[in-house]
Amino acid sequence: MSRLVVISNRVSVPTGGAKAGGLAVALKDLMERQGGLWFGWSGDTKAEAAGVTLPYLVHHENVDYATIDLTPEELDLYYNRFSNATLWPLLHSLPEQMHFDRRSLQAYRGVNERFADVLVPMLRPGDTIWIHDYHLLALASAMRARNVTAPIGFFLHTPFPSPDMLGSIPEAALFIRDLLAADLLGFQTSNDAENFATSAQRIAGAARMAGGGLQLGNRQIRVGVFPVEIEPAEFAQMAEQAFASPETQRLHRSLDGQSLILGVDRMDPTKGLRHRLAGFRRLLETRPQWHRQATFLQIAAESRQDVGAYQDLREDLEREAGAINSTYSDPDWTPLRLMARGGTREAISGYMREARICLVTPLRDGMNLVAKEYIAAQDPENPGVLVLSKFAGAARQLGAAILVNPVDPDEIADALDIALRMSRPERQDRWNACWEAIKDTSALAWGRSFVSALARVGQEGQIVP
Ligand code: G6P
Repeated sequence: MSRLVVISNRVSVPTGGAKAGGLAVALKDLMERQGGLWFGWSGDTKAEAAGVTLPYLVHHENVDYATIDLTPEELDLYYNRFSNATLWPLLHSLPEQMHFDRRSLQAYRGVNERFADVLVPMLRPGDTIWIHDYHLLALASAMRARNVTAPIGFFLHTPFPSPDMLGSIPEAALFIRDLLAADLLGFQTSNDAENFATSAQRIAGAARMAGGGLQLGNRQIRVGVFPVEIEPAEFAQMAEQAFASPETQRLHRSLDGQSLILGVDRMDPTKGLRHRLAGFRRLLETRPQWHRQATFLQIAAESRQDVGAYQDLREDLEREAGAINSTYSDPDWTPLRLMARGGTREAISGYMREARICLVTPLRDGMNLVAKEYIAAQDPENPGVLVLSKFAGAARQLGAAILVNPVDPDEIADALDIALRMSRPERQDRWNACWEAIKDTSALAWGRSFVSALARVGQEGQIVP
């Protein structure tokens, strides 16, 4: 079996400490089975890292983990600026949040080139290469420029915007051509794949082929849809156990019989958190019957704090949370608990099982695994209600949730009201439909299906019909 080479900005190097999340575990599993190399950024910066092409190596269970440091300047320009202040808002169709500067674009391309410089000497004949996410849009072409002929797959974890939106950056055509250096391009939803294919046609002059492929010059490229999954049964079991843990039981007691409304996100401008708080405020304003009957716990794990938009978001949320609480609190009731810290996966799974409602209202999201985890965490006999943005990739599978427009506070307030009143049979019906949609999926099967589609492309050197 061909060795699997995975490249991503963050690498989950086994340390014996913190447990990795579902997706990292699935990728590791795949690599352990067929032999693997996982390459990316070490998570550290060093001034003397400039131009260094020798990675740190860790070998564990059949997998080599190879990482490099970035210089502080590279981190700032490649990660904070171009990846997270230009591409991230662009890919999420939030142009008003985009920042441009040519220097960060150059640094971004420079880091992609350096990744190729370090990685290519480590490749062996027969390797299969799988690149992940928006930090590495230029890596496939940088590898081809270094004469790599192995099959290369690329998977985008974020949404892919419409061609019009994409056209708002001058480098769009360049990035599309870079991506077309891969053999297989994977997206979360058919909408993302369609947006990419149309952009490739309009902006880069690729021809669309029957069966969803593209042709550019004499090369054929396959475009596919691979929605990311969790391990539903495992998550369900973890949640059931965690529900009995002291942490969840403390939360339960603190609620004193009230319903828990839960949000679990990175503190990120795409997650719709400002609008979500506005929706909760609207509920309190228009439905006083829920005062003292429900508490909203928003876990908003601090993220990308060197990026201005993320700092602004934290300030806004703290201000608005304070304002909501000072308006509606009673001496013995605080309607909103805002935490700028995450928790362990176990603890959060227990909170999910406790929650009567989970609010997942991103403005846009590639998939959103919290939505799937919440479904998996429920007690089938007495499940809670998922309130889900119609602009999350997960809404394609979880149409039985209450779907909302994430920027409309009235719609969020209405959904909360409906969910708080919902009868047990209706909650069970909706939950059953959501569970049916995910129960036979798995993160491992997701990885396998991408890798086997890539192997087929590799064998045939062609589009798979
Ligand atoms: C999203 C991206 C990932 C990224 C993660 C955490 O899920 O698709 O590529 O790793 O956010 O963000 P961070 O900037 O901390 O890596």
